[in-house]
Amino acid sequence: MATRELTTRAASLDELRAKGRLVVSLDGHTICLLTDGDAVYAVDNRCPHMGFPLHRGTVSDGILTCHWHHARFDLCTGGTFDQFADELRRFPVEVEGDDVYVDLTPRRDPVEHQRGRLQVGLERNISLVVAKAAIVLVEADPSGVDAFRAGLDFGVWRRADGWNRGLTTLTCLMNLMPRVAAEDRAAALYHGLTDVATDSAGFEPRFPLQPLPGAGDPERLARWFRRFVEVRDAEGAERALVSAVRAGATREQLADMLFAAATDHRYLDNGHTLDFVNKALEALDVAGWERSDAVLASLPALLAFSARMEESNAWRNPVDLIALLEDAFERLPEPGRGGWGGRAELVETILSGEAAEILEALLAALRAGASAIELASAVTFAAAMRIARFPTTNEFGDWDTALHTFTFANAVEQGLRRSPSRELLRGVLDAAMSVHLDRFLNVPATRLPAAADGHGVLTELPHLLDKQQRVDEAATLVASYAGDPDELVAALGSCLLREDRNFHTIQCVEAAVRQHELLRGTDDERLPLIAAARYLAAHAPTARSQRQTYEIARRLHRGENLYEDVA
Ligand code: FES
Repeated sequence: MATRELTTRAASLDELRAKGRLVVSLDGHTICLLTDGDAVYAVDNRCPHMGFPLHRGTVSDGILTCHWHHARFDLCTGGTFDQFADELRRFPVEVEGDDVYVDLTPRRDPVEHQRGRLQVGLERNISLVVAKAAIVLVEADPSGVDAFRAGLDFGVWRRADGWNRGLTTLTCLMNLMPRVAAEDRAAALYHGLTDVATDSAGFEPRFPLQPLPGAGDPERLARWFRRFVEVRDAEGAERALVSAVRAGATREQLADMLFAAATDHRYLDNGHTLDFVNKALEALDVAGWERSDAVLASLPALLAFSARMEESNAWRNPVDLIALLEDAFERLPEPGRGGWGGRAELVETILSGEAAEILEALLAALRAGASAIELASAVTFAAAMRIARFPTTNEFGDWDTALHTFTFANAVEQGLRRSPSRELLRGVLDAAMSVHLDRFLNVPATRLPAAADGHGVLTELPHLLDKQQRVDEAATLVASYAGDPDELVAALGSCLLREDRNFHTIQCVEAAVRQHELLRGTDDERLPLIAAARYLAAHAPTARSQRQTYEIARRLHRGENLYEDVA
């Protein structure tokens, strides 16, 4: 006679057969016992999709169908036929006489399971699946790096045309993640991962190229890389780049070759291209440089096919900024060692001077001892000022014009902090010209907010952003805040994460927070956050539907019932 192995008695078989299904509570589990012909099954009574009680479902030919969104589950294995749901947890059953026994032993590793589900969510672009995975993975790894790597690996492989908006969103939010409140961290990853999925959906995958056979010389490969990008040969450039990685090019060499190609032409794609290059490097800092061949190989197509501002009217007429820049590049002095004191004056010249005057002021600053980073920081600050003083009477779309310049300038500065080069220094001058071109956005310039009583700013800001266009009030609140700046950053992050994703708002807040941190302890430290608050207020409130999906996942994870009448 066979020996029964299961010890937890769940029900009477006669009673189960009489009723067809029973709901029992065992060791904290709510279990649905079902019969289908002679077979007896035990499954978790909460539908893995959104928790609807499965004892209200229908069984037919071994398939249980939930009545809420009609997800179907194989009762033998628990496997689902509907990927928006999840595998149903089933419990092994034994019957002895009139007694039904179930095995409550955990059978799967929830973290490993959610790693798999994250792939499903990314591949099929299902936000709720991504949200559930992000919550479990961040609980297991509060740094978020595990889930970030999964999103990065997926994103760089998934789109034939390479690095894209979604990967930039993911990296921006990963940078913000340690700066937001603990309860917002999984939401930050969720937004980033979901944007990767959304931005990859419907595209052909990328098939990576192998490096050249044999050893290569990184310096020669870097020259070839720039030459191939110049003639818009993305495949040639990719092969040179992955060969440089294989040849052992250092991180600085790789950054230099990418930034050089990103500044061989002016302000590629309104600054997005260099910003994306910088974000790819930041992604490697987080995920690990052993991924450099896969991640960096997503960049050559971007670099090769970007619009070059030499071909745009605004950079050519009525003043030929390209000619002025090329002349300035010829005369670019070696940067100084720092400690230069002309920042405020240079910022004012960038904001209000003519193009030739601005370029001469930049060259003079270098000759006066300004370091490349000091110069870049002044230009980025001027770009932030354009947003901080952007009047709401402008066309709404022009918020983006000012934003593009700011994020480009920030990326150039971050790149110079990573690996300074004469080539990338050209980007500082490009950024200054873009700030100059944006001068019409500050006519008339909005006054910078005066600090008022800062009491309650952290609680008032979310309420203010429940209403449209409270741009100047938000700036005043941020200007007035007198508490811990980390809490102010976290509050801005929290307001950002409750809105539906707006790529440019995410870029703005991330760049502003980075700039704020670089300027901590100076008189300029608050201005980037004022700019971010104004931009955020101009783009809030949204429908907040994406956060609602996340909150559903969070409630399910906590074991809450989504429906009032669920027992
Ligand atoms: S399919 Fe069951 S809750 Fe949605």
